[in-house]
Amino acid sequence: MARPKVGIIGCGNISEIYFKNCQAFGMDVVACADIDLERAKSRAAQFNVPVGCSVDELLANPDVEVVINLTIPSAHAEVSRRALAAGKHVHSEKPLALTVEEGRELISFAQQQNRRVGSAPDTFLGSHLQTSRKVIDDGWIGKPIGATAFMMSHGPERWHPNPDFFYQPGGGPMFDMGPYYLTALVHLLGPVQRLTGMTQVSFPERVVTSEPRFGQSIQVNTPTHVTGILQFASGAIGNILTSFDVWHSELPRIEIYGTEGTLSVPDPNNFGGTVRVRRHDAKEWTEVAPLFGFQENSRGLAVADLMDAVRTNRLHRANGDLMLHVVELMEGIHVSANAGRHYEMTTTCERPSPWPLGFDETQLRLSFFR
Ligand SMILES: NC(=O)c1ccc[n+]([C@@H]2O[C@H](COP(=O)([O-])OP(=O)(O)OC[C@H]3O[C@@H](n4cnc5c(N)ncnc54)[C@H](O)[C@@H]3O)[C@@H](O)[C@H]2O)c1
Repeated sequence: MARPKVGIIGCGNISEIYFKNCQAFGMDVVACADIDLERAKSRAAQFNVPVGCSVDELLANPDVEVVINLTIPSAHAEVSRRALAAGKHVHSEKPLALTVEEGRELISFAQQQNRRVGSAPDTFLGSHLQTSRKVIDDGWIGKPIGATAFMMSHGPERWHPNPDFFYQPGGGPMFDMGPYYLTALVHLLGPVQRLTGMTQVSFPERVVTSEPRFGQSIQVNTPTHVTGILQFASGAIGNILTSFDVWHSELPRIEIYGTEGTLSVPDPNNFGGTVRVRRHDAKEWTEVAPLFGFQENSRGLAVADLMDAVRTNRLHRANGDLMLHVVELMEGIHVSANAGRHYEMTTTCERPSPWPLGFDETQLRLSFFR
């Protein structure tokens, strides 16, 4: 199968790993672009990409089949839409869109254009979350009845050079980190039917202690302690808490509770980590050996999957329906909190198909784009 030809838009911080992994996963980056042309040129030089150019030039380039959109969240939907309008498939960094309405429009536009749309996170394609899925699907914990997911922190102003956007609408811990946790939960347990949210601003003002803005203050305009109760269509009930307001915590990242035992799932912001299971009669936890590859940072894996799906005429895993459902979960938690009532989900999705057992970097190279 022909190697996919990729164009990358947005040559900032996170782009480096995508340039590296495109090559590793059998795809050719044929052009890269940024509103800051110098950044595009510099990444092109760094990774031997033939063209570092403007966004318009990249979209007009007939060689580009799929665009990877690594711009900032507020630009995701617009840049993705332009890519689709130019006849390209598109995969963006998370989130797919900032609102459900924006995401829905994007998906229906992709359908009209007969092009694929998808987004990060693709950490659910990593070793730990695929192994966790296999443990559940093979019945080791029985029927899942509940889940907990915790992302506790005290916010990014201690390390991020420019942390303002984390405290404005569209930021906050749920929109920033929620996609990893919620995508993992939907991958493991399926879609959510309804939810309840509660949110709070515990600190109305934050003081930056990172450089170069040490000592400056930020007014907080979005909730920073955000919790949701999720009722899955399967009947399981999940609790999620994401916070920028907590100094210390010993809570696990994700646990799945079943009728026969408990599964402990490592950090969904990574691709690897130790999966542990403890059945009802076990005296201690057992580590589950990784059953799949992709333990290292494999950002961009979903793009390889998307292009293989195009070539083989199947649904790609990090698809628009899954990611729109995740956007609605984040939005719904805030809507529910503001309204003081349950929120009924309007979107749904399939659980993305798992990798075949043992699928890893070598299998990918053998089966994709030869
Ligand atoms: N940095 C990380 O560790 C990290 C991790 C996971 C996900 N992400 C996600 O990746 C995305 C990018 O993050 P980043 O840290 O690389 O940000 P960044 O600010 O370093 O880079 C974004 C780049 O996009 C460019 N850009 C912005 N708007 C544009 C537009 N309309 N057209 C063309 N170019 C545009 C900017 O000039 C910049 O070079 C975000 O959605 C973020 O949530 C980042």
